Amino acid sequence: MGQLWKGRFKKELAKETNDFNSSISFDCRMFEEDIKGSIAHATMLGATGIIEKSEAEKITAELSDILDDIKSGKLKIDMEAEDIHTFIEGELTSRLGQTGKRLHTARSRNDQVALDIRMTLKKEIAEIKEKLKALVGVLCSKAEEHTETIMPGYTHLQRAQPITFGHHLMAYAAMLLRDIDRLDDTAERMNMLPLGSGALAGTTYPLDRQMTAELLGFNGVTQNSLDGVSDRDFCIELASALSLIMVHLSRFSEEIIMWCSWEFKFVELDDAFSTGSSIMPQKKNPDIAELVRGKSGRVFGDLTTLLTVMKGIPLAYNKDMQEDKEAIFDAVDTVKMCLNAFTPMIETMTVLKDNMRAAAAKGFINATDCADYLVGKGLPFRDAYKATGELVALCIDKGLTLETLPLKEYKAVCDLFDGGIYDAISLEKCTFDRKVEGGPSPESVKKQISIARSKINN
Ligand code: ARG
Repeated sequence: MGQLWKGRFKKELAKETNDFNSSISFDCRMFEEDIKGSIAHATMLGATGIIEKSEAEKITAELSDILDDIKSGKLKIDMEAEDIHTFIEGELTSRLGQTGKRLHTARSRNDQVALDIRMTLKKEIAEIKEKLKALVGVLCSKAEEHTETIMPGYTHLQRAQPITFGHHLMAYAAMLLRDIDRLDDTAERMNMLPLGSGALAGTTYPLDRQMTAELLGFNGVTQNSLDGVSDRDFCIELASALSLIMVHLSRFSEEIIMWCSWEFKFVELDDAFSTGSSIMPQKKNPDIAELVRGKSGRVFGDLTTLLTVMKGIPLAYNKDMQEDKEAIFDAVDTVKMCLNAFTPMIETMTVLKDNMRAAAAKGFINATDCADYLVGKGLPFRDAYKATGELVALCIDKGLTLETLPLKEYKAVCDLFDGGIYDAISLEKCTFDRKVEGGPSPESVKKQISIARSKINN
């Protein structure tokens, strides 16, 4: 396949140059967007009289056929072509002759590629959003089953205060809901048509950019031609939103990995979503969670790639920018792949409630509630805190818990204690009384679930 820019050159392109320069191996995935963008452009060229309407019609019909042929496998994309834009235009011209050569009027590959990436990423964002919503949906259902499942909440990975498993899951739902907002925001800002920017300086043709924007479902048109062709902020914004998704999935993965260990045994992964060892017959490994944790590094790397590619290039288009696609596509593909495996892994895992409850019963996670009980009897919190600390030390000495420590020991530390202490520090009460908005009580978690569901269902 020849180049579009042959006229000025006397020699054939060196194979090494083409191999190095070509982007077809990764921009071929934009074939549909490239063709749809060209159909809209040709339609507008015909409607404005920049080219004959009859020719525009021939072009759009032939482009639709090319799209069908690629989709059906009848037409193979030539991997020797310089890029997808060259390939499609070359194919059109070989089918239509002179008429095909009119398609590129008032357009450059610079505004064309800026358009194609935006269209591709808009589609990918919509897909990722659906996957995130599905995961939030799974978290809501699981949380609903576990509004009364008591587990220890941690700080510093030390048992701290009692919470419910439903509450813990909904913390991840809250993160993912923010991720969805961020994707919406990114999609909104990228939804501006760059076509019409030309190579860098717009065009003298009387284009109707608004028409092309409407045909392609864009909210408006970019306002500066130099920026229109050289802006890749939207790739960076998306890579950054995707990086945060990976931060969240990675933290969640880390917890799954811990919870699967014999040391915790809070959950058991379904056989279909775990793997074995080639040598240790007893092993059941949380490989999916570990891979998700590991793959976060790729996505952060993609973000760094994009930032670094863009930071030093002058206006307007520079070939460096061709490097945007592999990075952002890798980030998109990685996040999609992670979500595809992660969501069913969470959906099918077994929650070992009794182990969570047993862990919550150890570690004095009701100590704050013991101090709060004394506050209720009129003691200032700082004194109540100290008295409770002494009781904890006493329990540790005697191998007891606050629940099993006899009343006379309580009274010896502070005579405000009476038999009501045992009810006040019962794990159920300590957990279920945390009814504050955003807290772990069953009512509060049910409210979180209903808010999350309304967000994912709109
Ligand atoms: N493959 C190119 C890219 O991805 C398309 C734009 C080419 N423009 C140019 N002036 N060489 O950036």
